[in-house]
Amino acid sequence: MSAAERVLVVDAPAKVNLSLEVLGKRPDGYHDLRSVVMPVALADRVELTLSGDSLELTVDADAGIDLSQLGPREENLAWRAARLLQARHGAPAGIRIHIHKRIPIGGGLGGGSADAAAALAGINRLAGLGLPPATLQALGTELGSDVPALLHGGAVCMEGRGERVSSILESRPQPVPGFWLVIANPGIHIATSHAYRMCVCTGGLTERPNSFNNIVSSVRSGDVNRAAAALFNGLEPGVFAAYPETARLVACLRDAGGMGVLLSGSGASVFALVRDAAHGEDVRRRLGAGVWSVLTKTLPDGVMVAHGPLEP
Ligand code: C5P
Repeated sequence: MSAAERVLVVDAPAKVNLSLEVLGKRPDGYHDLRSVVMPVALADRVELTLSGDSLELTVDADAGIDLSQLGPREENLAWRAARLLQARHGAPAGIRIHIHKRIPIGGGLGGGSADAAAALAGINRLAGLGLPPATLQALGTELGSDVPALLHGGAVCMEGRGERVSSILESRPQPVPGFWLVIANPGIHIATSHAYRMCVCTGGLTERPNSFNNIVSSVRSGDVNRAAAALFNGLEPGVFAAYPETARLVACLRDAGGMGVLLSGSGASVFALVRDAAHGEDVRRRLGAGVWSVLTKTLPDGVMVAHGPLEP
């Protein structure tokens, strides 16, 4: 590392939607949503370096993560986040981004959005841009509907197309425990836009106010039984019909002992809430080694963790 380089390493957590209601189609082509979103401990590692005179991006991954699903560099959300900060807010020309992927790509776990959130917050700090949270949130909305929730961190209610985000744990006197969960991936890719189109085509828009209220109170109380009973994802029927692998994986996780099982966001990952780590390991064993899976925990208060800046 040369004397001019500065490095910041950010853990960028994935997310699950414990409840996802699709409320209506908007004139801009997006859908109005109401969703309870929680980050999880499964995280990409985003390393940011101020160096050189151009924007560079490299990506590697844990075993089992299919890097062939990565699009071109110009479509990478972390890359686009850096470009936005350069074009509008004076971020330096020389930025190196290295992403170590642990979150399945295109899996409905918000991996690309997490990387974008890490790039926005990280470059803001590393380059001393001094942008307030509201500005970062607005940039995040331009990049993708899940970015504002992941920038905010913790358990949130997400509304609009994703741009309105509010904590559901504000003014809690005690920290609340998270839920253990097993996330599994059937090894297929589902375009988010297709999942939303299927939602409209297969029986209309979805709303389940009881799910929303019960999920919010279960997150506040840490009651995993209540959460398992209230899980809801309005995208499920369309996605299950178009991608039967996802429905089969849900059935496998149920058979393996998952308490409540749900499609994660627009898929193709699915997750099962479990009682504790031992139960989660048991579910993974029953699922078998042929299916990608990971045991992790929701982070009710979790925010992106930054290490650094590491100055020479
Ligand atoms: O915002 P993002 O780029 O993640 O959205 C990808 C696609 O998913 C959109 O182009 C749209 O088709 C669909 N979508 C939607 N309503 C949302 C979020 C996403 O219809 N609230």
